[in-house]
Amino acid sequence: MNFWHGKQIVIGLGGGIAAYKTLEVIRRLREAGATVTPVPTQAALRFVTGLTLQALSGEPIREDLFSPLAPDGMDHIRLAQAADLVIVAPATADLLARMATGQADDLLSALLLARRGPVLVAPAMNPAMWEHPATQRNVATLRQDGIGFVGPESGAMACGDQGSGRMAEPATLLEAARRALTPKILAGRRVVITAGPTREELDPVRFLSNHSSGKMGWAVALAALRAGARVDLVHGPVALPVPWGAVAHAVGSACEMLDATLDVWLSAPGNPRCDAAILTAAVADYRPEKRLNDKIKKEHAFSELRLELTQNPDILAMLSAWTGMRSRDGHQRVIVGFAAETGNALTRGKAKRIRKGCDLLAINDVSAPGCGFGTDTNAVTLIGRDGREEAWPLLPKEQVAEKLIQAVGDLMRNIHTTP
Ligand code: CTP
Repeated sequence: MNFWHGKQIVIGLGGGIAAYKTLEVIRRLREAGATVTPVPTQAALRFVTGLTLQALSGEPIREDLFSPLAPDGMDHIRLAQAADLVIVAPATADLLARMATGQADDLLSALLLARRGPVLVAPAMNPAMWEHPATQRNVATLRQDGIGFVGPESGAMACGDQGSGRMAEPATLLEAARRALTPKILAGRRVVITAGPTREELDPVRFLSNHSSGKMGWAVALAALRAGARVDLVHGPVALPVPWGAVAHAVGSACEMLDATLDVWLSAPGNPRCDAAILTAAVADYRPEKRLNDKIKKEHAFSELRLELTQNPDILAMLSAWTGMRSRDGHQRVIVGFAAETGNALTRGKAKRIRKGCDLLAINDVSAPGCGFGTDTNAVTLIGRDGREEAWPLLPKEQVAEKLIQAVGDLMRNIHTTP
């Protein structure tokens, strides 16, 4: 089911040039199935027209605290209560100041004062205004009040200045809105995720690799971020932008992936401990015995070229072994693997879970229709140390990831509540 379908979103707009980006947010939320009610301030209507807002949202705009059109004259209360989320974008310095001091002299500020549920604010202003102690004081107050912030970002401003103050881009704002509405089942947890293929170099121009696109790992990273986790994403070469908020560790070979993953897993003193590892990477099982410094030239060779290969370390098996050794520190961790099989998947997957020692294993038959490398869907059977065996239908990878994160969250809760 589409996440946004049926959601009620109020979008408050302050008077800033970044309001043009909010138009895109409104359009995309509506396309995704949400009902969007724009509430512009009078200053916002100097930048975008009421007609534009109405045409994009498909809803009448609300701009007047004392509108005779409001059915009961209580738009500020009704909208504040009915919305799943209130977004303020752009949030100008003036609007932030009025929010922080609890003013309620127009529809948007009154609505925000009457609001009990989540509010997400996207500031947009000149860098000097953003950095001003008065604005920073107001931001600190609002954060304390539980208001969520997205941005501002750094870069070139409409006024010609450079610095921090640009409103978050529509895609980032939409992702922040989604996170504001997702239950935080992994709040305070740190999760390391491996994703994508590895590259095992033969010489400076050639490598051995596989078809992994990284999409499954990306979906898992996004689901974990939405659930409130800190995510370390250790990934091979993939053509995807790093999910917003993830700490990325780009690697090439399996050995580099092992080093980077262990670094996170055994976190250095002072860093938060890792609570879970979800290994979706398609790690090359073998690497060339020798990586040559010079390109292999065919005039030196023969009609055949034979490669000597050495087995790579198994990251999943090593993490599971480490965790067994370290569980004496009292910190239990959840380890999840993925199994790519081509036929007889369940039997092979069960043997693999025992061999690798992980808590959960998501088995997928990469030869089945709609599954495997580069697809946007996957059919997974989740098996566990606890004997579970759940066959999930063919689902978008995003939903497979959500279900997996739910399973990890449940397992963690049980581990931490069972003596
Ligand atoms: N894996 C790993 N390190 C490796 C190989 C695999 O961490 N060197 C992890 C994968 O990320 C995945 C799981 O182990 O979570 C299973 O990977 P898969 O390719 O299905 O299994 P293999 O161990 O490679 O076994 P086989 O190729 O024989 O099926």
